[in-house]
Amino acid sequence: MKANSPKEVAGQPGSSTLTAGVAGSVKPSRGSAEMRYAIRDVLQVAQQAREAGKRIIPLNIGDPLQFDFSTPVHIIEATYQAMLAGRNGYAPSSGVGEAIEAIRDDAGRQGIENIQDVFVTSGSSEAIEIALASLLNPGDNLLIPSPGYPLYEAALAKFGCEGVPYYLQESNGWQPDPDEIARSINGRTRGIVVINPNNPTGAVYSREVLSGILELVARHGLVAFSDEIYSKLVLDPIPAISLASLAPELPVVTFNGLSKAYLVPGFRIGWGILSGEGKNVADYQEAIGKMLRVRLCANHPQQFAIRPALEADQGHIPPMIEKLRRRRDLIDSLLNSIPGISCVRPQAAFYAFPRLEIAETDHEFVTDLIQETGVVVVPGSGFGQQPGTNHFRMVFLPPEETLRQALHSIGAFAKSRRSLGCRE
Ligand SMILES: Cc1ncc(COP(=O)(O)O)c(C=O)c1O
Repeated sequence: MKANSPKEVAGQPGSSTLTAGVAGSVKPSRGSAEMRYAIRDVLQVAQQAREAGKRIIPLNIGDPLQFDFSTPVHIIEATYQAMLAGRNGYAPSSGVGEAIEAIRDDAGRQGIENIQDVFVTSGSSEAIEIALASLLNPGDNLLIPSPGYPLYEAALAKFGCEGVPYYLQESNGWQPDPDEIARSINGRTRGIVVINPNNPTGAVYSREVLSGILELVARHGLVAFSDEIYSKLVLDPIPAISLASLAPELPVVTFNGLSKAYLVPGFRIGWGILSGEGKNVADYQEAIGKMLRVRLCANHPQQFAIRPALEADQGHIPPMIEKLRRRRDLIDSLLNSIPGISCVRPQAAFYAFPRLEIAETDHEFVTDLIQETGVVVVPGSGFGQQPGTNHFRMVFLPPEETLRQALHSIGAFAKSRRSLGCRE
């Protein structure tokens, strides 16, 4: 106790003051300086626009519950019943048994074999952080898609690791190119992140591309991380192939969760599935277990929503897809009719990543767009993009009338920009 007394902290025997800091201002970590989350960072600009009297149309956050989608009642009831039944204490660190079983069965239906571990987390976000933290040492790197979901780069910065971008091919429907990925692998590369279906492009990857990526995993002794959080929201008649299903013997961590297709992003329930040859992943599995234990557990009562979500009535999904398909078709045709904007048609999820032919940066374009029109989209640079290109990401979750208004404003804004001298 004595060592922590205020006197010693202040370094002035006899003085009782706690105000004088020896070190001056508190210096944040270098890792925190790298933290960016453009999806929420734009809200500050949106707030200024609101204060200036603009009506805000938020097209930045991928939360269906902000629009005309609602949580299936049986998912809410299962959670409520779990609470009433007293499941309000800590849960096992890997998750409750019935949830783990349901996730295993669901993964089996996606063709994933050789499952060595399933762990339930606070959103798939936590599964991603734990899986990466259990693998990487400072100075290691991971190959991450560009554009891609920004959490990966932020997590890597936290761990003192590098995200090496591999560029998705806009001219090829935003598919990855395994040959380009191969060129980025070096002695410190530990794994490859695949986001399929992709956020922010909405692309669904072909079997050929996925097989090409798995060849690299095998050849270079890597771990594949496959983020499949949108796998049940495919809008076109094409399969969303689970990466792990193509290579039961290779180490793959598959991420998924309830947030998107089951309409409970606020429940914070996700999971990781570790598959591969048992003896090759045993140490890694143990490391994940340790990481899970130190953070105690994921939300307990909400875990009882997992089995009903995955196994009971799936009736909300077809109408959700139908609604999203109509909205996707609308924004696809409207975006592509705006001079200076072109968009690869998203095949899944609820995001579009249109390209801008502009003289300024996407950041400047988006900031001015929000201030002048109140339409809130996210600059493409927040997700990564090929140098020399500019994009923005928008969600197409809102009802058609709102999307029409938003795209009318974007079109008028883009036109006014071009008349001010932006290039074709
Ligand atoms: C590709 C991708 N992965 C992971 C997440 C995180 O989802 P959650 O933590 O809600 O499961 C998101 C959220 O938008 C996402 O788009």
